[in-house]
Amino acid sequence: MKKPNILFIGAGRMAEAIFSGLKQSGHIGTVTISNRSDSRRLAHLKDTYHVETAKWQDVVSNHDVVILAVPPASHPAVLKELSGFVTSQLIITVAAGIGPTQLEEALPQSPVAWIMPNTAADVKESMSIFACGKRVTEDDRASLQLILDAIGHSEELSEEQIHKLTAVTGSAPAFVYQFAEALQQTAKTYGLTSEQATKLVVQMMYGSVAMLKDGREASALRDQVTTPGGATAAGLDVLKEAHFDELLNEAVLAVNRKAKEQAK
Ligand SMILES: NC(=O)c1ccc[n+]([C@@H]2O[C@H](COP(=O)([O-])OP(=O)(O)OC[C@H]3O[C@@H](n4cnc5c(N)ncnc54)[C@H](OP(=O)(O)O)[C@@H]3O)[C@@H](O)[C@H]2O)c1
Repeated sequence: MKKPNILFIGAGRMAEAIFSGLKQSGHIGTVTISNRSDSRRLAHLKDTYHVETAKWQDVVSNHDVVILAVPPASHPAVLKELSGFVTSQLIITVAAGIGPTQLEEALPQSPVAWIMPNTAADVKESMSIFACGKRVTEDDRASLQLILDAIGHSEELSEEQIHKLTAVTGSAPAFVYQFAEALQQTAKTYGLTSEQATKLVVQMMYGSVAMLKDGREASALRDQVTTPGGATAAGLDVLKEAHFDELLNEAVLAVNRKAKEQAK
């Protein structure tokens, strides 16, 4: 496969996470970045990552893939303008709520895809979910996979599933940080400094996740630390009485309700 030339429209945090990973991968051609108005940021990114910068309208025809890394609200205008420029390029958006159906409505001749990364893309540990439109070819898929691999791990789902599961991969990291912060606060009540509390909680979480990543079941790992009737069991009983599982489910449903309202 020819190394794809990749154009970014939007050069914010998510674009930077993706092209910094892509530049390390070495399997791509030219990377060109563009934004709306912040020329100082473009110059800084050019110096840091050795990418090209341009007005996207001037260079889109020289690129195989266009990544839309602009806010969801900027999509209608950008897609409208883009429709006058694109031919066979793969068009990818990373925007919340903008699925292949909406992209295909705006660009009926183009192969399109939707990637939902999460903030861990910054450290190349994103759990990205993605869906492809009807015109995506095998070559397009290979380019898409390069991009997904540059920021971490990925799973292909249906468009409908992505609308629902962005709550689990995209929003739930906030639930995890809430959990970490709460335990750090508790640790500090026993006289620890902030640094000590952070170290204890972060390594505890990191180790627990490492065991899960090793392929072990969450329920088996939980049982392994929990002697029936013992001290850990007493702690788990408190979580059960407070309906911990139902609360998490409720939190996911609340994210989805709000996202649906915002999409209207
Ligand atoms: N950050 C995340 O963790 C994350 C996770 C999942 C998905 N996303 C999605 O990624 C997209 C970008 O998010 P971000 O966090 O990178 O945002 P950001 O840091 O605010 O960057 C937005 C970029 O879009 C550019 N832009 C805005 N309107 C434009 C237009 N009409 N034409 C050209 N460029 C335009 C801005 O340029 P100027 O600065 O010149 O205005 C800026 O470079 C969003 O759709 C978001 O939903 C982000």
